[in-house]
Amino acid sequence: MTELEKLQTRFGITGLARVEEGMGGLARLSVSTPAADATIYLHGAHVAHYKPAGQRGLLFMSAASQYRTGRPIRGGIPICFPWFAAKVGNPEAPMHGFVRLGDWSVESIQRSADGAAIVLGNKSNSATKMSFNADFELRYHILIGEKLDLTLEVRNTGEREFTFEEALHTYLAVADARKITIEGLENTEYVSKTENLQRKTQSERLITIDREVDRVYQNTQTPCVLEDPGFGRTITVEKEGSHTTVVWNPWIDKARNMPDFGDEEWTGMVCIETANTAENAVKLEAGQTHRLRAMIKSVPH
Ligand code: BG6
Repeated sequence: MTELEKLQTRFGITGLARVEEGMGGLARLSVSTPAADATIYLHGAHVAHYKPAGQRGLLFMSAASQYRTGRPIRGGIPICFPWFAAKVGNPEAPMHGFVRLGDWSVESIQRSADGAAIVLGNKSNSATKMSFNADFELRYHILIGEKLDLTLEVRNTGEREFTFEEALHTYLAVADARKITIEGLENTEYVSKTENLQRKTQSERLITIDREVDRVYQNTQTPCVLEDPGFGRTITVEKEGSHTTVVWNPWIDKARNMPDFGDEEWTGMVCIETANTAENAVKLEAGQTHRLRAMIKSVPH
């Protein structure tokens, strides 16, 4: 039996979830419930597709994405951990940490009240300790139902406290990024990565995308509401255990410079990332667990 067949025999549930070969030969879970369909790669515990019944998919996926070990998948929801962006003091270390670059294990798949409940796991080893000297276990709870409900649990399994950053780097699919608005961050301070890391305050009620936007909003726990007139829907991203929200659209030049992203694809996406970074990094004592939760839903107009 192949590894895939073993996983399918152990975790597959007829009519609800199957383990199959996905792009690049990578293992993925294909989930189909009355409320929504979803696809989750074990590579990076990457939710690549989520589609509520009767609606279009909520997540953007790049047609140029690579699907191979050691590379991140472009689109969907990469998990950034244990650091966000470049590692401070070690620019050689992979962007956004290492857990989006390799396989997670399947811990369980179950039928839930309105869909499916999946738990994937990951933990520290001698290789992870080379760039992040800590003992940890990660558990990623994915609920597929009328909402996409995600909880990343980080447990300190060692004897020393450690500090980490994290993000559920959510790429939302939009009809035209230039015509959307995002509400929920008014009066919030942010670091603008496109303006020499200047610290600014969001004065407008609504964020619009009219240039490259790469903003790390700090000390915010509020939900974000994305209005997309083109697709005729409102997407809400609610969160718990998160004090940072990142809003990102690469616009024209950066899109051209990313090898795994189509030149024109920036019009079809915006990232609203549920995170804890920089001053909101999480300090975790021995034996303690931290939970980061994002709940994403779409309401058609
Ligand atoms: C965002 C960062 O979260 O991720 C951006 O704020 C970055 O600066 C983007 O360009 C994509 O990162 P990556 O490593 O997936 O290309």
